[in-house]
Amino acid sequence: MVTLVKTSLFALCLFLVACATPSKAPESLYEEIGGQATIEAITNNFIKEISFNEGIYRYFEKTNIKRFREKFNEHLCVSTGGPCTYTGDTMLKVHQGQKINETDFNTTVDLLVSAMAKAGLTYPQQNRVLKVLAPMRKDMLYK
Ligand code: HEM
Repeated sequence: MVTLVKTSLFALCLFLVACATPSKAPESLYEEIGGQATIEAITNNFIKEISFNEGIYRYFEKTNIKRFREKFNEHLCVSTGGPCTYTGDTMLKVHQGQKINETDFNTTVDLLVSAMAKAGLTYPQQNRVLKVLAPMRKDMLYK
């Protein structure tokens, strides 16, 4: 009888503990890759990759890099589900007039992939970022 009561009490305790433990919200990609530090590492790597690539750097010759770094960080943070607000211009407005062709677009994506890999993102994580950016492609090409 005593054993039965003890067992029942134990089961009740387990049940109460399970109920009291809040179910954790699924982690965002932003949190999964390491938050703000990783976002900033990707952006810094991306800027380096651009500066080493003559064909792509020519687009950025007159760009204020300080502003680009800040806005790209925000954009990437939002794209990965992070707690940021994007305060830059729309992708259409920013890339309008640059007449970016498909080859240069693909090269830039390769530079971003390399920047993400160097910041430690796995292939699946890189692909999740690219999937979010893919619909924006139409606002950047041939504008
Ligand atoms: C991969 C997708 C891309 C994303 C997510 C992206 C995102 C951005 C962001 C967030 C900014 C800053 C916006 C602001 O200052 O308000 C920016 C600026 C810029 N982007 Fe992109 N971009 C992409 C592809 C490209 C490509 C393919 C090129 C050219 C080959 C390019 C050239 C530029 C240039 C030159 C600027 C600076 C414009 C200025 O000086 O005002 N971007 N981009």
